[in-house]
Amino acid sequence: MSNAVVRKLAAPVEINMPLVQALGRRRSSREFSPAPLDEPLLSALLWACAGNNLPDGRRTVPSALDCREVKAYVVDAQGVWRYDPSENTLTQTAVGDKRAATTAGQDFVLTAPVTIVFVQEKALSEPLEGDGGLLCICVDTGCMIEAAQLACAAMGLASVPRAWFDAQTLRQAMGLDENFVPVMTLTVGFPA
Ligand SMILES: Cc1cc2nc3c(=O)[nH]c(=O)nc-3n(C[C@H](O)[C@H](O)[C@H](O)COP(=O)(O)O)c2cc1C
Repeated sequence: MSNAVVRKLAAPVEINMPLVQALGRRRSSREFSPAPLDEPLLSALLWACAGNNLPDGRRTVPSALDCREVKAYVVDAQGVWRYDPSENTLTQTAVGDKRAATTAGQDFVLTAPVTIVFVQEKALSEPLEGDGGLLCICVDTGCMIEAAQLACAAMGLASVPRAWFDAQTLRQAMGLDENFVPVMTLTVGFPA
């Protein structure tokens, strides 16, 4: 998208629930309030699952061969946004409400304010070849999902990981070409 809109995110809220409590509360929930997510909560969620915890770009989550090939995108009522952890910004890749494209038929997804899509960038995953490489990409994504769900639990947000979507429909709705592969989604919002 040329001249893409870039949104500077608010600073993240401090997540201060003890890890053991967050682990105890992690759950998949499919009942959401339509209320929008406060930006400091979204910012903290994105940092938890795809953020940098060192200035050299290393992340809160591990990745095979340190490829960092899976990126987080936000789908909300306004559009689709790629998260840049170094700047704490969202860059728009598609305009308009694309939340319906993130599911193949689960209606609660349309109520929830945000779905995060975890997208593999092929250009970054060249070292991850064959079946073993594919497994690594899936595991890397799983690490991001778990970190995101723990952050949601700690911030009192409802969330559910979802693989039930059509990857090509979703990729196109997100304004991405064949070099990008949606791997998983996580639908997030306040509990109903
Ligand atoms: C890889 C994966 C794919 C999933 N896909 C979906 C999905 O498409 N739709 C959905 O409602 N839940 C989905 N889930 C959530 C599971 O149904 C949920 O984790 C499981 O029922 C256990 O519940 P819990 O997470 O509350 O412990 C998925 C979970 C994982 C790990």
